[in-house]
Amino acid sequence: MDSEPATDPDLLEKVINLAKRRGFVFPSAEIYGGFRSTYDYGPLGVNMLRNVKQAWWYSMVQTREDIVGLDAAVLGPPAVWAASGHLETFTDPLVDCRKCKERWREDKIDGVCPNCGSSDFTEARAFNLMFKTQAGPVEGEGATAYLRPETAQGIFTNFANVLASTRKKPPFGIAQIGKSFRNEITPQNFVFRTREFEQMEMEYFVAPADAETWYRYWIAQRYDWYVDLGIKPEQLRLHEHAKEDLSHYSKGTTDVEFAFPWGWDELEGVANRGDYDLTQHTNASGVRLEYFDQATSERYVPYTIEPAAGATRAMMAFLMAAYHEDVVEGETRTVLRLDWRLAPHQVAVLPLSKKPELERVAREVLGVLQPHFMCDYDVTQSIGRRYRRQDEVGTPFCVTVDFATLEDHAVTVRDRDTTEQTRVQIDELLADLRARTGQR
Ligand code: GAP
Repeated sequence: MDSEPATDPDLLEKVINLAKRRGFVFPSAEIYGGFRSTYDYGPLGVNMLRNVKQAWWYSMVQTREDIVGLDAAVLGPPAVWAASGHLETFTDPLVDCRKCKERWREDKIDGVCPNCGSSDFTEARAFNLMFKTQAGPVEGEGATAYLRPETAQGIFTNFANVLASTRKKPPFGIAQIGKSFRNEITPQNFVFRTREFEQMEMEYFVAPADAETWYRYWIAQRYDWYVDLGIKPEQLRLHEHAKEDLSHYSKGTTDVEFAFPWGWDELEGVANRGDYDLTQHTNASGVRLEYFDQATSERYVPYTIEPAAGATRAMMAFLMAAYHEDVVEGETRTVLRLDWRLAPHQVAVLPLSKKPELERVAREVLGVLQPHFMCDYDVTQSIGRRYRRQDEVGTPFCVTVDFATLEDHAVTVRDRDTTEQTRVQIDELLADLRARTGQR
């Protein structure tokens, strides 16, 4: 067992404060007193969340020949969730505190009520986490629908459609990013566990004999994705579930865990789901979900390897891993050392003053950069204050237009991490920034 890594005990509070103050994440419906466990992503947060999802899509779909994308419906009929096992088994153990009447998830409270300290609880009962709703204007059994608690099932129910329309053959995958909903008993830790969240899931269909190899392959791939985007290996670990802890569908699950301020916790699960889902949906729908290999005349139900990540949870981990306080020119600064691919703004264009001749050139520079980078433009306050504001939200590069620019057609590029400043010709600026970000 790894030891708990040392983390700043105030990190969670610091990140929550920064997220609210600078427009990453706001509590939802705040003007009405908030709505527990729901969050809205502000101007910077929406950029960053899109970047997290884009980085996942880039590695899972854009740069792979063997994986295609999908965007399935959020609303689904009970038949899907009966077949998947969610109606029966997607439950958490719910207990009531007899003293203060609060409700808790039994496995998260160590036998003591976090509200009043009592140990007097009701017997645990299975609480189904799915949100049930009604589709259409007529109430009744036929109108029941569920909000999906995972994106995965939309992939399984489209298995035959994707196979027929793409002519893919195992090993191949279907990737999906989208909202999922779970009526969590105890949502907690900011956007770590919420009732509405975004998932990034991929179902990889393989010949049964190859399942173990692909399972190990995807564990390694997914671990490397987080490292590539800036999380240090010492902040990550792999945790293989014991057989008795596996979900109803799983033949093996390994979590990628992150060193959150409260300890190691799950970022993503990689599971070998065997032929569970395709078989369940075949039996329930009567449509055969299998693969016929024309070369060998062999018909089989593929096994599924599933890397299942949370987009909102991953964004929180990237924020925590990037958060640093250091001293620059005798002053403590907060800096988010985000990978440029995740930063909400990649470049900030800063005219030294509001003088029209500087703003004119600065806007020209902005026009050159905007098609290639997500840019901010800021003309308020002193240049030092503006650098600090950009550091605090993780902008990797500031481009300053000053009076010398009017003479030499050059700007100053400041690097967030080293605070080093370099003079670059405006004509060469785009190429310079592309080189700094490893693009040709
Ligand atoms: N299809 C398998 C599946 O959904 P999961 O471990 O329940 O597996 C996958 O969920 C990932 O989705 C988790 O590792 C986590 O990142 C994210 N996730 C799950 N429940 C969440 C919640 N209530 N709030 C935020 N993210 C959540």
